[in-house]
Amino acid sequence: MNKYETILNKKDLTRDDIITLLSPSTKDDHELLLEKAGAVRNETIGNNVYFRGLIEYSNICAKNCYYCGIRRGNDKQGRYTMTDQEVLACAKFAYDEGYGSIVIQAGEVSSVEFTDKIEYLLKEIKKLSDGKLGITLSLGEQTSDILERWFKAGGHRYLIRIETSNRDLYTKYHPADKMHSFDERVKALNLVKENGYQTGTGVMIGLPGQNIGHLADDLIFIKNFDVDMVGMGPYIESEDTPMYEDRDILIPKLDRFELSLRMVAILRLIMPDINIAATTAMQTLDPVGREKAIKAGANVIMPNLTPVKYRESYLLYEGKPCLDEEAEKCKGCIMARIKSTGAVVALNEWGDSKHFAKRIKG
Ligand code: 5AD
Ligand code: SF4
Ligand code: FES
Repeated sequence: MNKYETILNKKDLTRDDIITLLSPSTKDDHELLLEKAGAVRNETIGNNVYFRGLIEYSNICAKNCYYCGIRRGNDKQGRYTMTDQEVLACAKFAYDEGYGSIVIQAGEVSSVEFTDKIEYLLKEIKKLSDGKLGITLSLGEQTSDILERWFKAGGHRYLIRIETSNRDLYTKYHPADKMHSFDERVKALNLVKENGYQTGTGVMIGLPGQNIGHLADDLIFIKNFDVDMVGMGPYIESEDTPMYEDRDILIPKLDRFELSLRMVAILRLIMPDINIAATTAMQTLDPVGREKAIKAGANVIMPNLTPVKYRESYLLYEGKPCLDEEAEKCKGCIMARIKSTGAVVALNEWGDSKHFAKRIKG
């Protein structure tokens, strides 16, 4: 057994172990890690993959993250908000097609109107699905009162990516104001947990200036925060953003993709019973990126439900797939893709993470 294999077989991984696993010296070692992670998933939570139908509700955002294509400061980007009818039609489609859950995602907005609207939509979605459709929210940092209202209205999972767990890097990628503070972000994530949500976070991989040590720390942050679900993927440059200037110092896309796969795999090893998404950004860098992520331990996929007319306007980064495929087409496509990995699509189930069940039992 070589050093890499010895580490793979350890029960608890140290920071140094994670660093070694993130930087294999051979293709065989890399493959071994991915295989091991897939096997750990199958042994711990089985080979079911759960659908979360993604509704990109609005691209209006009050924030100005330096990496993101829909940042407030990008005035080349036209803005939209889906109508109530459109949102409810998407939710109905998801319910009728047997998707266990949906995700409502939008830029970050804090206003009375927005809060009321989301609360209303949550209640209507619960009604139209007889309470059966699971609902994840991905609507940025919010106050405890708002989180509580949305929880009561039917949201039960919430995602806030930490983006990077390194304070200095976080500061580098965001404007220096209270709205973009690392501490506020951590607080917001804590509030999500305190309000009873299944809690999700994630990071971007291959950011300018980020090294393997930072990524190992990200995994340790995620583990210590004891989250229930994670969505992470490669950073992808976006032309109309300030960080586009750094495009020449990025690691090559293939390396970024493979590093992201190893992040997914190691996360599966250190948190065997959480939900891990095979993210769209993975598919952006490799045509079968999401399939590869599923083989490396991911168990959640988010087919896009957003009406095609809006998709071009929700471009967080370049090369996002499925710009012209309506929900129906994405469903067939994704079903076939998952089947090709040997995993099974579990329809009509919420697919909560086993980790959450254990966490609330204490
Ligand atoms: N590349 C990859 N991911 C991005 N996100 C935003 N901009 C980019 C980019 N350029 C991710 C962030 C955010 C999520 C909604 O999209 O992690 O939390
Ligand atoms: Fe807004 Fe999120 Fe983009 Fe930041 S990453 S600008 S909060 S949509
Ligand atoms: Fe949208 Fe394949 S997932 S067309």
